[in-house]
Amino acid sequence: MAKKRVLSGVAPSGNLTLGNYIGAISQWVKKQDEGDSENWFFVVDLHAMTVPYDPKVLKEKTIEVSMLYLACGLDPDKSNLFIQSHVPAHTELTWILNCNTPVGWLNQMIQYKEKSKKVGDENVSVGLLDYPVLQAADILLYNTDLVPVGEDQRQHVEIAREIARRFNRLYGNTFKEPKAVNPPQGARIMALDNPEEKMSKSAESKYNYIWLLDTPDDIHLKISKAVTDSGKEIVFDKDRKALFNLLTIYQSVTGVGEQVIEERFDGKGYAEFKKDLADKVVEFVAPIREKYLELEKNYDYVRDVLKRGAAKANEVAGETLKKVRTRAGLIDPM
Ligand code: TRP
Repeated sequence: MAKKRVLSGVAPSGNLTLGNYIGAISQWVKKQDEGDSENWFFVVDLHAMTVPYDPKVLKEKTIEVSMLYLACGLDPDKSNLFIQSHVPAHTELTWILNCNTPVGWLNQMIQYKEKSKKVGDENVSVGLLDYPVLQAADILLYNTDLVPVGEDQRQHVEIAREIARRFNRLYGNTFKEPKAVNPPQGARIMALDNPEEKMSKSAESKYNYIWLLDTPDDIHLKISKAVTDSGKEIVFDKDRKALFNLLTIYQSVTGVGEQVIEERFDGKGYAEFKKDLADKVVEFVAPIREKYLELEKNYDYVRDVLKRGAAKANEVAGETLKKVRTRAGLIDPM
């Protein structure tokens, strides 16, 4: 049987967080290591341009996130790793899909509405509205079966299915309809400074998130400042959102069960819990940080990985694009 194709990406729009790792990248690594899929993981630099950004920072973060992919355990021998903009088929297919996607589908997207509000009217770009179409192109180019993403991305995978279905109906069967897969737990690690919002790498305040490259001191400081409530007991209670989030993080980084954790902190207070949590998080990210620092000294290796990944991606995406162009009524180049 043909291997299932798995594809996902993260935008280099800020500091890759513990939430990105727990909710997404660790799941990709697991999938990759199961060895029964063909894997495509990429850094979505084009998506990072949809809100106001600084070109210099975009460049830095694109490389940083690429290296963090490797540091987190993505293995170029098992997964194709590349940078989205190095595969021009993504933008070309986006145009073709744009012309076949009703705008009414796009302005209802939750993420679009939220981000529009955040950036303010004059900064809502055409690109921001078009974000889901670019994402659909990302997915459809590789005949993707499974898209492992956080819960908030489910709607974007759904619209990719709808775009595929519509195109198939109008021009003949061309695209495979992808499925979203959410991680079993910890899909939503919330912000340390606001448990109502997802931990976000593009948050204004660094106290929102744990960066995978934070120093041990940063981590202790951030966790000590994390919001809690006036309750006393350290227990998993969904209604105590801030504490629940910290406990979820504890569970995710230690792999220890709820009951054991509750017993461990029975009769203890926040200060003690937070200190232990910070120690556990430091321990958890240490190998990632170490590997990253090593890769920084091996830039040639990183370049080579990304070059090989893009070459493979261009091959596969190019084939799909060729078929799509013909179906859509474009003449082959002479
Ligand atoms: N929108 C995704 C996110 O914010 C990133 C992304 C872009 C993506 N293209 C993709 C994820 C294709 C999966 C597949 O997390």
